[in-house]
Amino acid sequence: MRLINNNAPLTAEIARIAEVAGYLWERGWAERNGGNISVNITSLMYEEEKELTSLCPAIPLKEPVKALAGEIFYVTGTGKRMRYIAKDPFANGSIIRISTDGCSFEIIAEEPVPPTSELPSHLLMHNYLREQGRDNRVVLHTHPTEIIGLTHCKPFLDATTLTRTMWSMIPECRIIIPKGIGMIPYEIPGTIELAHATIKELAKHDMVCWEKHGVLAVGEDIIECFDAIDTLNKSAQIYLVARTAGFEPEGMTDKQLDDLVPTFNL
Ligand code: 13P
Ligand code: ZN
Repeated sequence: MRLINNNAPLTAEIARIAEVAGYLWERGWAERNGGNISVNITSLMYEEEKELTSLCPAIPLKEPVKALAGEIFYVTGTGKRMRYIAKDPFANGSIIRISTDGCSFEIIAEEPVPPTSELPSHLLMHNYLREQGRDNRVVLHTHPTEIIGLTHCKPFLDATTLTRTMWSMIPECRIIIPKGIGMIPYEIPGTIELAHATIKELAKHDMVCWEKHGVLAVGEDIIECFDAIDTLNKSAQIYLVARTAGFEPEGMTDKQLDDLVPTFNL
């Protein structure tokens, strides 16, 4: 054990990550190794934990993340399954520390588990949000079935159409995802191109769809990120169940949607 046993806040945060990994599997959004998670845990680490020696040589980053210099993250491992991350987050993920120049990272605990192939994207997003002064700690990527299904339908590749339709399925979607949903045209998973396209949309939204691939949410709290994706996917399910029953769902009216804004301070 490299981490300090009695670090209760860190232990609790890792338990919340494991809890969400379990939900992703139970929802059917995490086939094989589908999805990945990174959480900034710098503020939860004891000073002596922050100084742990590296378990392997420093790994260079394709693009520097200078706003994250010295910061520490829990990240799920590449090829690791959410259902096993839920049971043992340290056998299936690792704690990494960004170098002081922001150009590389080291794995410092608990085991040298290589991070997700989407790490360059996750770090560029954390870096961008930090530069914007947004108090972001979490990047959560998963493969929710129904919302991915909608990205196979041309009209829904328009973010405005997707957002308006999903909002209008159930009031909670308008309330819980007030900034709407960004849409990223298909890109190869794990590429810097996908990261850059995502960052552009994160200027306006906390959640984006990756065409024919999945969803990514950012936020301060991993449970809130999960709940936002769950709410979006619920709307997609309502839309599809209506279509399967043979009718186009009516959706809430513009007025019904607009009335939620003052009521819920959106
Ligand atoms: P990793 O196993 O490398 O995290 O990849 C899973 C995934 O969903 C890629 O988009
Ligand atoms: Zn994916």
